[in-house]
Formats: sequence, structure tokens, C-alpha cells
Amino acid sequence: RTSCRQRQVLKMPGLLLGDEFPDFEAETTVGRIKLHTFLGDSWGILFSHPRDFTPVCTTELGRAARLSSEFTKRNVKIIALSIDSVEDHHCWTKDILAYNCEESSCISLPFPIIADSKRDLAVALGMLDPDEKDKDGLPLTARCVFVISPDKKLKLSILYPATTGRNFDEILRVVDSLQLTAGRQVATPADWQPGECVMVPPALMEQEAASMFPAGVYTKNLPSGKKYLRYTPPPKYNTNH
Ligand code: BEZ
Repeated sequence: RTSCRQRQVLKMPGLLLGDEFPDFEAETTVGRIKLHTFLGDSWGILFSHPRDFTPVCTTELGRAARLSSEFTKRNVKIIALSIDSVEDHHCWTKDILAYNCEESSCISLPFPIIADSKRDLAVALGMLDPDEKDKDGLPLTARCVFVISPDKKLKLSILYPATTGRNFDEILRVVDSLQLTAGRQVATPADWQPGECVMVPPALMEQEAASMFPAGVYTKNLPSGKKYLRYTPPPKYNTNH
């Protein structure tokens, strides 16, 4: 594995898939938290925002709030980050709720927002978008999504520029894929949705795959003659998997 020093010299991003996610402490809208304690045994999603009181972020936080029961169903705790103060976050929260929720259907956001006014976390976690600056010329935060497994490892990171709002259906879909493939020798194909067939990874030999997937392995014939494109029904049909 590349060491921290090598990553600095090579100007590589600090966090790689499989790394332990930093157990930082931060002020949030629900008080001071320590990330690992906040997450407990749950999966976690940390998602960052360029700034409070900005239009795209207001739609994103509202969408995340409306999907709260979907995240809970998947045992995922979510936490947002924006580079303003807790006071600003509380004031902005009222706008988010007013814009996104039916009147009286929600009185608070179902997740905390981290206050990163000094950009310490944004810098440490490689979240800044060099193309989007505030009025003082300082870079704003990009739209990062970090998915953290219950053992506190970074399982997925996606980085969008400030000008592109995220697709939260896709975030739920990748959580479904990550949870399904955790500890199982399967992978999910392009645009996979829960309940659809999964793919058998190339490293599994034919015999191994046959015994691992009693529901059957379907191999697609390809011009190369190589037998690598193999599907199997999802795990609930492969009962010994
Ligand atoms: C927004 O959230 O609307 C936004 C923030 C920074 C740059 C562009 C858009």
C-alpha cells in the first residue's frame, strides 16, 4: 500500500478505498460529535456541501431528509457538512424544511450538519472544489459522498463539483450494492437494481462458482471465447451463499 508520505509526494488524495475513515471530532447541529461514536454499528454517509443558503444544496439536503426512512431501513446514518457555523446551519435548516417538506410534516432535519467554518475537515478530507470560490476568493467545498462501513472503512467515494447536484437514488443504489457485495463473492453490473442478477467475479473458477451458486451460473458466449461474463441470481436464491 502507498504510504501517507508517498501520497503527499505524489499529490495523491489522502483517503483511499479500504482506509479507516478518520475519527474526527466536530461541532454539529446536534452538538459536538466524534464520528465513530456517532456512527456506532451503522453504515455511514458523510456528504459535503459548498455553502449554506445556496440553491442546489437546499434541494440536496431536502431530498436526503425525504429519503431518511430509506437510509434507516438500510441501517445507514447520514451526516452532512458545510463550511458555515452551527448558527447558520440552524437558520438554513428552516429554509430547507420550508422548501422541501409538506407543511408541518417535518420539524427538524433527520441528520446533523457539521460546522466546518474554518474548512479544517474540508481540507483534511480533500473536499475543496478549486473552481468555485466564495466572495473572498476561497475555494468552496465540492459535493463529496463518503460511504463508510460498520468497521469504519471507506467503501466508496464520489466527488461532484459544486455546480452539479447529486442523484440520491444513485446513492441508495450504491449502498444496496455495497451491502450486498460485502462479504460475498459477487459484483453488481452497470445500472444494477436490487433483485436483479449479479455477476460472478473473474477470480472464481468454474467449479467453485458452480458449488457457490446452486441457483445456477449463466455464462454469456462472447466473440473472444473467454467465459468471463457470468451471471447468477441474487443471493436470496443462492441459499448457501
Ligand atoms: C449551490 O448549492 O447552489 C451552489 C453552490 C456553489 C456553487 C454553485 C452552486
